This record gives sequence, structure tokens and C-alpha cells, in this order.
Amino acid sequence: MTSTIPVIAIDGPSGSGKGVITQRLATTLGFHILDSGALYRLIGLAARKHGVNLEDESALADLAEKLDVSFKPTGDAEDPLSIWLEGDNVTRDVRTDEAGMDASKVAPMASVREAIGLLQRSFKQAPGLVADGRDMGTVVFPDADAKIYLTASAEARAERRYKQLKDKDISVSLHALFTSIRERDERDMTRKVAPLIPASAAAIIDSTSLSIDEVFDQVLAIVTGRLD
Ligand code: DC
Repeated sequence: MTSTIPVIAIDGPSGSGKGVITQRLATTLGFHILDSGALYRLIGLAARKHGVNLEDESALADLAEKLDVSFKPTGDAEDPLSIWLEGDNVTRDVRTDEAGMDASKVAPMASVREAIGLLQRSFKQAPGLVADGRDMGTVVFPDADAKIYLTASAEARAERRYKQLKDKDISVSLHALFTSIRERDERDMTRKVAPLIPASAAAIIDSTSLSIDEVFDQVLAIVTGRLD
């Protein structure tokens, strides 16, 4: 182990299963969760709420710096945290595909990323952290004890997202999801600042034809090996 408080970085594209794996891992290890994607989604939501243009980098960085958010335990293992913005419960709004798209538009801005860097690092608390995102292992926690890069084909990811949203009664078409996943991949992987790439020490897992249990078993074996 390289740090006193262990950090597990789980990075990968949208719909790769990071969220579920992060939740299961955190529950199994008794660790905290950082859902970094939710922070970018919240900046987008805050921008819409306050009428800030999604291209206005300095106003967005300002919003990001003052972001009034909290994550509260729900007691539900499948969905362990509710998300609050300026006192409002926005758990559902944060998960929509539109919020994901807005997040992907504000995320390439260097000053926005810088503004939430400290907030992200503040989630590192005993007994440990599982951090889910795009640059957890490359930029935010380069000394993470274990780094996992989860991926899957765009088709498989669109289908999973479709099912997840449907289960939450959020309606969207599969084709629209596929198009938006491809668009977000392109934007997240090609941006100049903190692009989505596997960290050099990351274990890469392609989950296209694996069940979530199979992915979790692989991840847990890697993580427990690194934490020993
Ligand atoms: O993981 P997610 O779908 O909630 O992420 C939403 C967007 O936020 C994603 O398209 C890119 C951005 N993001 C990022 O740039 N860096 C992170 N660590 C997490 C998310």
C-alpha cells in the first residue's frame, strides 16, 4: 500500500459499469464513495438553475468553486447516496442523459476541473475511498493503491444505460442513448485536459460479455491483492 488511507480508482467510459462496481466495492470494503461524474453533472445543473451559459468557463469555474452539494446515505445498497444541490434533492435530475451531456460539455474546461479538484480530494477519508470517474487514477489520485479501467462496447453500454434509466422510470430511446454515448466518448477521450485514458498501472477489464458479478469478482481479486 502506498498511502495510509487507501484509494481505489475506477475509471472508464459512460455505461461501463463503474457506478455499480464502485458501490459494491465500497459496501464490501466499508469504504467511502466519490462519484466524480456526479460533481460535473451538478455543475451543469447549477449552471442551468442560475442561468449560466455552458460555454462561459469563468462563470462555470466560479459556480464549481462554490458548489453547495451534499451526498447523504439512503440505506439502500443499490443506490446508497442521495444527492443534494443547494438544499434540493436532485438525485433524479443528476442521472438524466441530458445532465450527463451537460457534464461532458463543462468537464473539458481546465479551470472547472481545477475548481473541484480540492473537493474531490476531500473525499479521501478513513477507512478508504473508492473513486469513480474518468481521471481518478491519472490525475486526481495518481498514487491510488489500485487502478481499474472498465470498458465495454458502445452498444453494450447503451443497452445497460437504457435498462438503468428505464428501471428509474426515466424515459429515453435506445438509439438516442447510443448516439449520446458515442458523442460523450469522443468528447471525454479527445479533450486536452485530463482525457479518459487508462492509467499506466491500471488493470483493464472489458465487460462487454461479462456479467456484473463476473466483473465484480475480477475487480475484488485485483483490489484485495493490492491492499494486502
Ligand atoms: O460518469 P458520468 O457519466 O456521471 O460522467 C458525466 C460526465 O462527466 C462525463 O461524460 C465526463 C465528465 N467526467 C469527467 O470529465 N471526469 C470525471 N472524473 C468524471 C466525469
